[in-house]
Amino acid sequence: MEAVTPREVSVQDEAVDKSTFKKCNQIAFYRRQKLLHPGKSSYRALLESVTLSDENVKFQIIHEENKVLLQVEICEIEGNIFRLKIDEASPLRARYKVRDVLIKEPTTQRLFISQNEGGILVLSSVNEDYKLQVIANPFQVELQSKGETILSMNSNGLLYFEHLQPKPTAENEEAASDSSKETQEDLGLWQEKFGSFLDIKAHGPSSVGVDFSLRGYDHVYGIPQHTEGLLLKNTSDGDAYRLYNLDIFGHKIHDKIGIYGSVPLLLAHKPNRTSGIFWLNSSETLVDISTKAVHGLSGSAAETAKQKAVPLTDVRWMSESGIIDVFLLMGPTAFDVFKQFAQLTGTQALPPLFSLGYHQCRWNYEDEQDVKAVDAGFDEHDIPYDVIWLDIEHTDGKRYFTWDKKKFQNPRKMQEHLRKKKRKLVIIVDPHIKVDPKYTLYSQAKDKGYFVKDRNGQDFEGICWPGSSCYLDFTNPEVRKWYADQFAFKTYKGSTNILFVWNDMNEPSVFKGAELTMQKDAVHYNNWEHREVHNLYGFYQQMATAEGLIKRSSGKERPFVLTRSFFAGSQKYGAVWTGDNTADWSYLKISIPMLLTNSMAGISFCGADVGGFIGDPEPELLVRWYQAGAYQPFFRGHSNMESKRREPWLFGEKNTQIIREAIKERYVLLPYLYTLFYRAHTAAEPVMRPLWVEFPGNIETFGVENEYMLGNALLVHPVTEKDAKAVSVLLPGSAEVRMNIYTVTFQTILPWLCFLQIPVFQRGGTVIPLKTTAGKSTEWMVDTSYELHVALDTEASAIGELYLDDGHSFQYLHKKQFLYRKFTFHKSILSSRDESGQYQTMCVVERVIVLGFGHQPTFVTACSKDGKEKEVVFTYDTKTSALTLENLALSLAADWKICVN
Ligand code: NOJ
Repeated sequence: MEAVTPREVSVQDEAVDKSTFKKCNQIAFYRRQKLLHPGKSSYRALLESVTLSDENVKFQIIHEENKVLLQVEICEIEGNIFRLKIDEASPLRARYKVRDVLIKEPTTQRLFISQNEGGILVLSSVNEDYKLQVIANPFQVELQSKGETILSMNSNGLLYFEHLQPKPTAENEEAASDSSKETQEDLGLWQEKFGSFLDIKAHGPSSVGVDFSLRGYDHVYGIPQHTEGLLLKNTSDGDAYRLYNLDIFGHKIHDKIGIYGSVPLLLAHKPNRTSGIFWLNSSETLVDISTKAVHGLSGSAAETAKQKAVPLTDVRWMSESGIIDVFLLMGPTAFDVFKQFAQLTGTQALPPLFSLGYHQCRWNYEDEQDVKAVDAGFDEHDIPYDVIWLDIEHTDGKRYFTWDKKKFQNPRKMQEHLRKKKRKLVIIVDPHIKVDPKYTLYSQAKDKGYFVKDRNGQDFEGICWPGSSCYLDFTNPEVRKWYADQFAFKTYKGSTNILFVWNDMNEPSVFKGAELTMQKDAVHYNNWEHREVHNLYGFYQQMATAEGLIKRSSGKERPFVLTRSFFAGSQKYGAVWTGDNTADWSYLKISIPMLLTNSMAGISFCGADVGGFIGDPEPELLVRWYQAGAYQPFFRGHSNMESKRREPWLFGEKNTQIIREAIKERYVLLPYLYTLFYRAHTAAEPVMRPLWVEFPGNIETFGVENEYMLGNALLVHPVTEKDAKAVSVLLPGSAEVRMNIYTVTFQTILPWLCFLQIPVFQRGGTVIPLKTTAGKSTEWMVDTSYELHVALDTEASAIGELYLDDGHSFQYLHKKQFLYRKFTFHKSILSSRDESGQYQTMCVVERVIVLGFGHQPTFVTACSKDGKEKEVVFTYDTKTSALTLENLALSLAADWKICVN
């Protein structure tokens, strides 16, 4: 079959109507689990079977009706994490356990049995802060911290575990009456139909699920990716949050269907505590949420007596297969939860600096001339950018790792041209491989048996861009190694070291497949069915690609890989974007909570297509989107094949000017942003974070999703309404914390009449490092001088930091080749001191602006470490209380002090 043409693509797209995708009640395991209603659990713990070792506590539970035994394993992991595993005690065959997501086998701490009598087992942690109480009948686990119940498991009796059974024999089936056959079908035990698709379950039903009750919590977040608001909503029957990676072109907003990626991490927050539940399962998963107020559940006797209603959130997890393997992240702060999750799944990879610049993408930049013209357009219009992208049309008939020979006759030369301009190229590499015996990648993979198989043992074939395609089995480590080798310069003809990679369609997308993805009964490495690993497919492709890019540089260079599909831990391999959004205001608006949710789930390097991928944005929307994108972690303009061209200079001089300013602001901000990425990389702090994370005690912030914090210092409120004449900005803080030069009250209505910018405030008490000016790309700015913005708090103090390295290699890691500077403003002295690392730079701090300085100084001096003192030129604006210090020329790498008198 020939490549799918654009026309066929749109026919394909039009075909994507609602009936293409399942509603929850069309999912058999969900229907089966929903037959179990809240009530007394049928499971009883056999506490006489308890065994204790250094690593864990084990015991069995029994189902009172079917008498099947399950093995429960509980352990405490260093750093306030508890892990609970439930598997069959003697399964018919091993059940799938997620691999490669945890960065290592977690270090456990010994638990102590402080009670095992009267049907109650109490386990205490070493430091005695936590107690786990296991109630035997009905089986339930409660986790307490210093006497306060944080959460309980199975308190609604929804523990559900389908044990593996032999397939009923033909005679048995014959014997079954017609009506019970119907019920069997309805339950989808051994096979399940959806439209014309038949999913044959070789190993029968294997669904698992359980409920958690989060005491005192009524704000829950996380479990991306959905086009939903920041706060998770209560679900009703048939409306659960779905975690199942799907390619939904033109997806609707405010929908709980899963799109592209899944991270089964849920966060719960109340003023004094944040907790997390990480449900490590890569099969299709549904999550029901129900928040209510209950009486006397707080755990505090006084409150119980008063019968004060306390909130409670029930979370019910339901997965199609695998085991129950759940991590309870006990915080107690949000930042602790982020660290705990990173301890398990890794931190955000430190991006190469260029990838924090602006990216220009389109489906497609046609040919070499087009690429050069667009590149030149940025210079002509004085707009910085770092990377130009090539979509699927650059290949020879959608054969990835090749070039269309007519349009890209000399890709190396084109890259050399870009290199001279200090810019990079990103090309797309999808996971489907065109069925074509003359295509080396296909024939090699075929010969080696590297494709996913169908249920009959043949290579699984599906339709994607190239027409008939096979899908590499990235779950196989040997396939990943082979795939990584494809990026070697020798093998990937026409590639150079300025070429980086975009992994798309890796849910995986299968045009004529059930729900446009792979059959669940397809078979992977080690005979695991696709249903077990579905949500991991994209994760593994990005892993292999990132490894390939590292390998081609002999381990020296940091990779950049953007992926559409992802899972918990994908942050280790690069960036993620939110897929095919639409050029509409509502999609700009929803991009904020979507990115915040990804960020809380560990994926800091995320962004949404600026302008909206589908359709044509009106100029005002495009401008507002650039202004928003400039303050989001991954900043890429992208548009669909059928959308009009939208390079930033095509919308009239006025709009070009505003977009130019927005992109330049981004480039000036890069030192701060890069420092935030270093914090994400080393300390798991999300780059973009909801307000409540920074103001955890301020209940007014808990649901805010139209503004956010970039690091701890900047509050950003993108304008997401057409014709906005004013925006209302919530500036949270207390008497001690000021935003910019505003002393903050809880709610400030800010008249906003300006189309030129969006509201961005610097929080009092912070110092942010900036560049004094933007260059043509990040590489042009290496020597550009720095500027510090110091926003004072009411104590007239501020602190901040700067991270700097070569921006591309691993020397920061292996040779400590980096700078980490700490800036402190205290008692009218601004000092810069070395925190750690070493890195040579000739850069200087040229300017300092102190916001909120209370009086006109008499004189200002700067002194370097060697005692040399010089007078500093300054201006003071009495209206704004801004003190500007100019022509400083203080070495960025050296210690110095500025004294304001
Ligand atoms: C779907 C992706 O989401 C989109 O960004 C891309 O342009 C098309 N595939 C074509 O590759």
